[in-house]
Amino acid sequence: MDFFSVVDHRSSAARLSEPVPGESELARLLEAAARAPDHGHLAPWRFIVLQGASRDRFADTVVAARKVRTPEAPAEALEAERQKVRRAPMIIVVACVTQPDHPKIPEIEQVLAVGAATQNLLLAAHALGYGAVWKTGPAAYDPRVKASFGLVASDHIIAFVHVGTPLAMNPIRPPQLQGKVRRG
Ligand SMILES: Cc1cc2nc3c(=O)[nH]c(=O)nc-3n(C[C@H](O)[C@H](O)[C@H](O)COP(=O)(O)O)c2cc1C
Repeated sequence: MDFFSVVDHRSSAARLSEPVPGESELARLLEAAARAPDHGHLAPWRFIVLQGASRDRFADTVVAARKVRTPEAPAEALEAERQKVRRAPMIIVVACVTQPDHPKIPEIEQVLAVGAATQNLLLAAHALGYGAVWKTGPAAYDPRVKASFGLVASDHIIAFVHVGTPLAMNPIRPPQLQGKVRRG
């Protein structure tokens, strides 16, 4: 698939199932992600791949963190949250390990590099014929969830990328061009 075909036809997966990328395909996805522009070559990204039991433990962590944030949440809401995570056949957690006091590279640039890596990952998944969707939500900002991945509060979870074989895709949106062209 050529580049524009990949970009123009990517959309988020609405439903995913097995099979997920195998070892060599996963390596290809992560290498593509790590080719993102990276000011200062800090490699601030961390990719944590979850499948099977590790995905289920992550679901437990998400639910436990939600119980702390909102103790009044009904059991059905907690169960729905657990099942949302468990429905993903593979989750790639994309985190940014920040250097907030870096003398040259502002933190926002470190975060942007990991955002660019996430987009590379989505495009690479599409190019290999898989579906993917970039998810966040309150769990991404929860210090307990961060700690479960060995991250500290100043680090950022940029995305929980759900990956698998698409059963349903979002419609492809027309590009919303904003801005001006000034050629002189
Ligand atoms: C920073 C960021 C966070 C996102 N978080 C979520 C999310 O929590 N849940 C979700 O369904 N989609 C999330 N998305 C995906 C967008 O909603 C999705 O890309 C958008 O709706 C456009 O759909 P498309 O990817 O099919 O073009 C997120 C995207 C970005 C860039």
